[in-house]
Amino acid sequence: MKQLLPDFLFLYYMFSRTKSNLLAVITGATGGIGRSFAKHLASQKYNLLLTDMDQKSLKAIAHELKKQYAVEVKTQSLNLTNEKHLSGFIYKLKHIGKIDMLVNCAGFGEGETFCNEKVEHQLKMIQVHITATVLIVHAILPGMIKQKKGKIITVASLSAFIPSPGSSIYAATKSFLNSFMESIYMEVSRYGIQVQSLCPGLTHTGFQSKLKKTGKRSGLNKDIPFMEADDVVNYSLNCLNSGTVVCIPGLFNRVVKNAIPVFPRKAFYAISKKIAEKNLKRLVN
Ligand SMILES: NC(=O)c1ccc[n+]([C@@H]2O[C@H](COP(=O)([O-])OP(=O)(O)OC[C@H]3O[C@@H](n4cnc5c(N)ncnc54)[C@H](OP(=O)(O)O)[C@@H]3O)[C@@H](O)[C@H]2O)c1
Repeated sequence: MKQLLPDFLFLYYMFSRTKSNLLAVITGATGGIGRSFAKHLASQKYNLLLTDMDQKSLKAIAHELKKQYAVEVKTQSLNLTNEKHLSGFIYKLKHIGKIDMLVNCAGFGEGETFCNEKVEHQLKMIQVHITATVLIVHAILPGMIKQKKGKIITVASLSAFIPSPGSSIYAATKSFLNSFMESIYMEVSRYGIQVQSLCPGLTHTGFQSKLKKTGKRSGLNKDIPFMEADDVVNYSLNCLNSGTVVCIPGLFNRVVKNAIPVFPRKAFYAISKKIAEKNLKRLVN
């Protein structure tokens, strides 16, 4: 009860101070795509509950959005690989009840061949991409079903359709998310809940530079076009309005996704390996 009180107070405070009574929850909210979602949703008068690992960046974004859009923004520092953090967050989500929109954005990349990567790192990725997403969606959906409305966007990746050396766990977890969202869509669309699996291709955010810093990737692949996070998020929100479940921003990315099943599988493996070799040190050396 003591733990719940601040959440009820937060909601009361939030909705009594702003004209809007819409609430969106975003994970990975200080990253490139998450931050852009926060900005777009604040401009649509959503009050926000932003989570990520770095409290200082969260506070800075909250300050900026409150000032610019006159919405309420609450932040929670949260490491999704920390069981205690995650279970506390799930408890909170279940008791907030009325959540209008969820954006699962937290994630990180991989730049190492399977046997050369530490298994702890791989399990962390499975925890952030899969376990945390499943738990969060499970906590939020009953409230949305009760309200007979709600929106869920999970950021998967174009990698969901592209198995690739150096991305074995990343591509597999993103494939899980894409399939998960499509099944959830079929289960809950009859309640008026909109569901999306957002599958961006390469996007300018901190994602690539963090991988480069690990020294596992030699650099950005210059042959493949990058998108800006704002364009990805604009496209995603348009897809949501038009009811597209698997949303792939960018013509190049849509062509790639549609071309892959046409190739004989062996030819696809050769191409995927060749592209990976261009920026994965381990495969080149
Ligand atoms: N950028 C691309 O090319 C691209 C392409 C396809 C899909 N995606 C997906 O898009 C999503 C957003 O990524 P982004 O491109 O915006 O990259 P980003 O700028 O690195 O944002 C990812 C965010 O997730 C957070 N995060 C990572 N591990 C976490 C954990 N254990 N607990 C809580 N938060 C955690 C990061 O926090 P820290 O900054 O503190 O690490 C970061 O704020 C990811 O799911 C990614 O897989 C990205």
